[in-house]
Amino acid sequence: MTSQKTGTDKVVREGNSYRMERIKRISQSFFLHIHSTRVHISSLRPTYTFGLGIILGFLFLILILTGVVLMMYYTPSVERAYDSVKDIVYIVPGGRYIRNIHRWASHGMVLIVFLHLARVFYTGSYMHSRKLNWIIGVCMLVITLFLSFSGYLLPWDQLAYWAVTIGSNIAASARELTDLLGITNYIDIGGFMKKLLIGEETVGQPALSRFFTLHVIFLPLSLLVLIAVHFWRIRKDGGLSCADFREGVNRESDEEKNKIYTWPVVMWAELAILFVISAVLLLTAFIVDAPLLEKANPAFPENPAKSPWYFLGIQELVSYSAFSGGLLIPLLYLGFLISIPYIDKQDHYQGRWFAGKTGMRTALYSLVMSLVVVIGQLFVMVRYGWLRDWFPGISQGVVMLVNPATLSVIGFVLWAGWIRRKTNSTRMASIALFTASLVAIVIFTAMGIWFRGPNWDFFWSRSQWPVI
Ligand code: HEM
Repeated sequence: MTSQKTGTDKVVREGNSYRMERIKRISQSFFLHIHSTRVHISSLRPTYTFGLGIILGFLFLILILTGVVLMMYYTPSVERAYDSVKDIVYIVPGGRYIRNIHRWASHGMVLIVFLHLARVFYTGSYMHSRKLNWIIGVCMLVITLFLSFSGYLLPWDQLAYWAVTIGSNIAASARELTDLLGITNYIDIGGFMKKLLIGEETVGQPALSRFFTLHVIFLPLSLLVLIAVHFWRIRKDGGLSCADFREGVNRESDEEKNKIYTWPVVMWAELAILFVISAVLLLTAFIVDAPLLEKANPAFPENPAKSPWYFLGIQELVSYSAFSGGLLIPLLYLGFLISIPYIDKQDHYQGRWFAGKTGMRTALYSLVMSLVVVIGQLFVMVRYGWLRDWFPGISQGVVMLVNPATLSVIGFVLWAGWIRRKTNSTRMASIALFTASLVAIVIFTAMGIWFRGPNWDFFWSRSQWPVI
């Protein structure tokens, strides 16, 4: 009896010390203790997060490391910038490779930050205490875009120069409204925004100095601080929002039972993600070179001059109306993102992809609706022109308010309102509005990337269409 008890004690003691070891690994390491010592098993399902947040963290780390190396050789002056980048590509050993990695990691980060936002949204992970982390996330989204955009100018080649010129014109979008009201001479908000961004009327040394400072100090530091708060909040919110919706699982009583030790399983999983990300990046950087055109020449505009791909959706909207496309709609969209946790408080859907079958159907219908509304209007525009073609003397105010961008927004809001009434659910209404706008962003961006040619004309000129 005694020896049996001693044997059981030994097993328990060994089990306890093994558990203690796993807890200590996490809690006593400065770097690892961003994790809690135990996590819910459902949050580890690869199809729950797709590891997107971790990938973003790794990409940011890779960008800092490669950015520091590039900074050692780069000179932020209009005279030297282009040559210093050429030196990096052609003279510095491994320089071309480091530059390629930096470039593709930055594009990857922009793409994945949208995917991560979509995963967080579609799993309803923004409710209650996570509201704050969602809003921090929206700030990180904006910073990520500007971090990438500010780096765009640094090579000082034709691509960089004209992309940033377009960007600075987008910043001046408010002028369309103040011109219309005849008050630009008194309150030139657009001019002020443009000056704030590039320092003078055209892109030059002040713009390069600003972009350099923003790119290497202000924006990365801000992002670093926000990432730290973001990770801290995830811990404070009790880990990820996942919920176990398997049949027969009692969420309350099985909560503890379904937790596993972070060390070593999660660590291995994260290491594997780091490996895959590094392999994809190294391979891409090996195969595809980051572009470097001729040295910037303010006298020879690129035609078409295009902003970076992630702002091409906005550039497309700006071509309809500077004010509504460059300012009003982006602000409305940011406002919508920030207000999502305040609009939708149906927390029983939290942690569940698309909130179940009804949400999936809502997302699918919204996708189809958005495709029809946006592509339908673009078809009319390409085939028959728009208001100014039909009524040449029409007021710019009308064009500003009635164009494919504003009409889409109105259509989406009406659609979301209808879904809200039909389902009596704010979650479904949010899914409808979010999906419709996401699809529209993708279509407008694709339009800017692939279907606009010189002078921002559509690739299919109207004259090539058969007359009906
Ligand atoms: C540079 C940008 C970002 C980084 C490095 C980052 C990193 C992470 C990581 C590592 C996680 C946990 C794992 C995962 O969900 O994949 C996470 C979760 C989360 N992220 Fe982000 N994120 C970023 C941007 C954003 C954005 C743009 C949003 C939304 C607007 C956002 C909102 C959230 C929320 C609410 C959670 C908690 C999700 C849950 O509880 O399930 N994040 N993020």
